Amino acid sequence: MADDNASPLALQRAIADLFAPEDEPLREVGTRAAAEGLPAISVSALQGRLLQVLAAACQARRILEIGALAGYSGTWLARALGPEGGLISLEISEKHAEVVRETWRRAGVADRAEVRVGPALETLPGLVSEAPFDLIFIDADKDAYPDYLSWAIRLARPGSVIVADNCVMGSSGLRSPEEPDAAHLGARRYNRMASGNARLLSVALPVGSGMTISVVRGPD
Ligand code: SAH
Ligand code: DHB
Ligand code: MG
Repeated sequence: MADDNASPLALQRAIADLFAPEDEPLREVGTRAAAEGLPAISVSALQGRLLQVLAAACQARRILEIGALAGYSGTWLARALGPEGGLISLEISEKHAEVVRETWRRAGVADRAEVRVGPALETLPGLVSEAPFDLIFIDADKDAYPDYLSWAIRLARPGSVIVADNCVMGSSGLRSPEEPDAAHLGARRYNRMASGNARLLSVALPVGSGMTISVVRGPD
């Protein structure tokens, strides 16, 4: 069948058309982000839906995101929460945070989504008193991914889901790349930690540039 030859990207778009349609607030995020000079590196709609499905599967009420950009993935996540749920998203750039707040106002989730500005490694220690988080989404500076995974485990409970974006990147997040840079090495170390940690049940999926998904197991 001709469809068997569809490229992975075309397949992902076809799946997204059916399972992850964007409404107006989601569609306009990219336009506003571009107008503000932000890079076009939000997750895809399909990845956004995957995040929602995972949030619903672990009955998430408290979600932590590391790396907000323009609030696109945060909108998908916040919409998986009930009105009493909460999303905290960490973002280093005050300029990005302003775009994020406007995105969440327009998407109708400003009551349950909050952006905290600063380098994530400085903000994370202060979140211990607000833990546990049911879902933690890592999508900021790739070289710090191994540190973010350690923090995510610390801020989680058994049954929490930890997701990290940009973990496959062709295959350079899995194997030693020809010309390794800090981002590839961070992703590769992250995948080694996630696959080798007995407290985690993990898999990586080739969605977008690759998401690694881990469930935190109990202490036994
Ligand atoms: N999750 C977003 C995309 C995030 S892009 C989405 O899919 O919609 C990565 C973001 O991480 C950028 O906005 C960048 O400013 C932020 N970032 C980079 N280094 C950071 C750090 N050390 N602490 C917090 N945020 C950081
Ligand atoms: C970059 C960061 C991301 O989170 C992403 O999804 C794509 C690219 C980047 O820093 O280039
Ligand atoms: Mg990303």
